Amino acid sequence: MPITTQIIGTGSYLPEKIVTNDDLAKTIDTSDEWIRERTGIGQRHIAAEGELTSDLAFHAASRAIEAAGIVAQEVDLIIIGTTTPDHTFPATAARLQAMLNTGNGFAFDLQAVCSGFIYGLSVADNFIRMGQVKTALVVGAETMSRLIDWQDRTTCFLFGDGAGAVVLRGEETGDDDQGAAKRGILSTHLHSNGHLYDLLHASGGPSWTQTAGHIRMQGREVFRHAVTNLASVVDEALEANGLSYDDIDWLVPHQANQRILDGTTRKLRLPKSRVVVTIAEHANTSAASVPLALDTAVRDGRIKPGQLILMEAMGGGLTWGAGLVRW
Ligand code: ACO
Repeated sequence: MPITTQIIGTGSYLPEKIVTNDDLAKTIDTSDEWIRERTGIGQRHIAAEGELTSDLAFHAASRAIEAAGIVAQEVDLIIIGTTTPDHTFPATAARLQAMLNTGNGFAFDLQAVCSGFIYGLSVADNFIRMGQVKTALVVGAETMSRLIDWQDRTTCFLFGDGAGAVVLRGEETGDDDQGAAKRGILSTHLHSNGHLYDLLHASGGPSWTQTAGHIRMQGREVFRHAVTNLASVVDEALEANGLSYDDIDWLVPHQANQRILDGTTRKLRLPKSRVVVTIAEHANTSAASVPLALDTAVRDGRIKPGQLILMEAMGGGLTWGAGLVRW
């Protein structure tokens, strides 16, 4: 019998400390008005000293597990999409496995920068549909504040820390439950273009400088590719399922930048009222941004059973992707 992957729980976590645009303007030459106008960002959450990516992931994962109504020991695959792991090795997912006190299955990190959650969703969906895994935890967790050059006014205002998680479970479906009407993950679509590696990167790495480095970005070029690639991967996901823009109940996009969001939704001719936007509260949290926005809209009741949800993201690599889900 075919197996379909269901999202059975969501969770998210933002660190307590908030840094506003006005706070930033005290140390660099910028203003709240400039940042809001260019990006829609009002503030970002920053992890406390000693608070690690695994801690953020643990809070978000625990909430997702609770929402799913399962115990952590039922999880047999853990994937963390992160570009800010606790250590160079082992994987932060292995630490999370211990924090959740599960000895089952396997755990690994996935590096696709801001697309990490969508990539993780796709990888876990494939493991589940192949029957190799029954219950998976996919987390996007980041402490981007540790990669930021706080003196670089062209990048430091863009990012924040946070985590989001989903619990996935395989369900056997009857043969008549196929097509776009079935529940669960309908399809995922992944892309990368390594020729654009330098557009958005960290200026360090274990093999290169033996330090983590800082975020470096060609903002305008990233912007241009983001709007084009995100609109095209949304088209691809809809076409693969014989659906159109009108069928989407909620677009849950990567919260990179309000202007990228507006550019993409204009291209898709999607009304703003059907887009989940949380960027003002937490800035760009990289791999955490899609599950953070998803959890927000699930918990406030916007996302309801039977609705069609389209998630998309783009990040360094460049990487980009989308996932279409019937809730
Ligand atoms: N405050 C005030 N002024 C600033 C700041 C700042 N923080 N940063 C730059 N400026 C100045 C520049 O020095 C420049 O001044 P000049 O004209 O005197 O030289 C002016 O503002 C315009 O600078 P630009 O870099 O051309 O500004 P732009 O309109 O391109 O906006 C931005 C910059 C917001 C970064 C934009 O390029 C962008 O949104 N890019 C996408 C980047 C992004 O979202 N990356 C996230 C990661 S990728 C992803 O997640 C998809």
